[in-house]
Amino acid sequence: MKYIEVKDLTLVLDNNLVLWDVSVKLESGRVYGFLGPSGSGKSVFIKTIFGIFKPVKGTINFENVDKVAIQFQEGGLFDSLNVAENVAFQILKGKKLICELDDELKYQVFNKVLNAARFLNLTDALFKFPEELSGGMKKRAVLGRALIDDPDVLVLDDPVAGLDPINTTSAVKIISSIISRYKPITIIVTHNFRAFWDLFTDICFFEKGRLVYLGLKSEAIKQERVYDFLKCKFR
Ligand SMILES: Nc1ncnc2c1ncn2[C@@H]1O[C@H](COP(=O)(O)OP(=O)(O)O)[C@@H](O)[C@H]1O
Ligand SMILES: [Mg+2]
Repeated sequence: MKYIEVKDLTLVLDNNLVLWDVSVKLESGRVYGFLGPSGSGKSVFIKTIFGIFKPVKGTINFENVDKVAIQFQEGGLFDSLNVAENVAFQILKGKKLICELDDELKYQVFNKVLNAARFLNLTDALFKFPEELSGGMKKRAVLGRALIDDPDVLVLDDPVAGLDPINTTSAVKIISSIISRYKPITIIVTHNFRAFWDLFTDICFFEKGRLVYLGLKSEAIKQERVYDFLKCKFR
């Protein structure tokens, strides 16, 4: 069984308590919708469990989790690398560029990149640089990096922010196929929970640095705080 178990996670940034005793067990094959108002701690929680911020208290245990694919809210394509190199970066672990590999390895890596690009409808963009891409293409390139390495954990922080409805629908379809193919532990932070509602199995609802609800999606809407937050957008 693969899981991430977090206990009593507490984080202080600039003298502010931004996470407060957060405990959660995230399991493979489940899709966690991270919801809650802006500034409630969703992004810092993700950054803390993956080592970017150091908590003042709490434990984080990874069980049988090796490969992690994260799409940060800030995006994260390298401007100086083309799409193929950006996607390959995930498997090269930043050690080398594709062009520096020996022929055998280059062939293997490029095949993987090509498979991902076909899956994401990005083959025409493989040799373009980020500045030449549309918003939807950039998001797909980041997804390419996420799926190329058969991830145990897939973390998407605001994956459809700024996309129009058509690109949103196609991104959700792609994300859905990644999930059914690899069955990772999936975390999706989004304000567009309508688009992702069918994919979620569980909801983690954050408010002012606390995890105020964690449980099945079907039970989430029975919780007053969660319902109040969701209802205005479900009408
Ligand atoms: N690098 C940082 N330094 C100091 N405070 C931060 C930093 N990043 C986020 N915060 C604060 O942490 C709180 C939670 O932010 P965040 O996790 O980004 O919210 P969201 O739920 O919208 O993702 C906010 O009060 C934010 O101002
Ligand atoms: Mg955020």
